[in-house]
Amino acid sequence: MTSTASSHSAELDFLLSRASTDHLVAPAPSKEKIAEILAAGLRAPDHGKMRPWRYVVIKGKHRSEFAELVVKAMLAADPDVPAKKIEKRRQRFSDMPMVIALGMHLELDGKIPVIEQEMSAAAGAMNVLNALNAEGFGGFWVTGEFSDQPDFLAALGFDAPHRLAGFLFVGTPEKGKPHAKRPDVENYMAFWKGEPVTFGADK
Ligand SMILES: Cc1cc2nc3c(=O)[nH]c(=O)nc-3n(C[C@H](O)[C@H](O)[C@H](O)COP(=O)(O)O)c2cc1C
Repeated sequence: MTSTASSHSAELDFLLSRASTDHLVAPAPSKEKIAEILAAGLRAPDHGKMRPWRYVVIKGKHRSEFAELVVKAMLAADPDVPAKKIEKRRQRFSDMPMVIALGMHLELDGKIPVIEQEMSAAAGAMNVLNALNAEGFGGFWVTGEFSDQPDFLAALGFDAPHRLAGFLFVGTPEKGKPHAKRPDVENYMAFWKGEPVTFGADK
């Protein structure tokens, strides 16, 4: 570990500096690079070795094909969805340099509660966001009410109970590494001293 002037490690500095951006341009990670980055997802804590992570990478000419699937699923979820919302999603899913569908392979009847499998999948996605940042790329996690549509999931290769935790938009940050104002940790932590705690964040 390398020491910094503020006395914590470069690694912690790196984690503290992560921010999302959806202003993403080419290049996206190469085939080899995205495999290295996704390997970080598989380092998430995983009770019972359930290995719920399933990453579907959508790139190149398949992006616009996938965007049409998104539109179809949006209309199936809500036939009255405004045309403006459809067009915005169509454009975002077609234009992002890369999209990663965050599949969750879930076992409903085993010993490990489904929520723990979902949390492991979510922890994996966070690791992927950090790995993207480490390799000079940017990421943005999105969800959508359309993504539970059975036909949409089937087109990706997921049949119930397997489903998605959302999508990562992936590419190179258009304006360099993003920055975000963060809340003060003092308001989000407390030391328990035998009595119920209160948090500054909740006052
Ligand atoms: C599970 C999950 C789903 C999200 N879905 C959306 C979304 O659909 N649209 C959106 O604008 N932001 C969404 N976000 C928030 C962004 O990914 C991002 O975290 C937010 O803009 C704040 O940026 P930050 O990550 O730098 O704090 C989602 C975040 C999570 C964890």
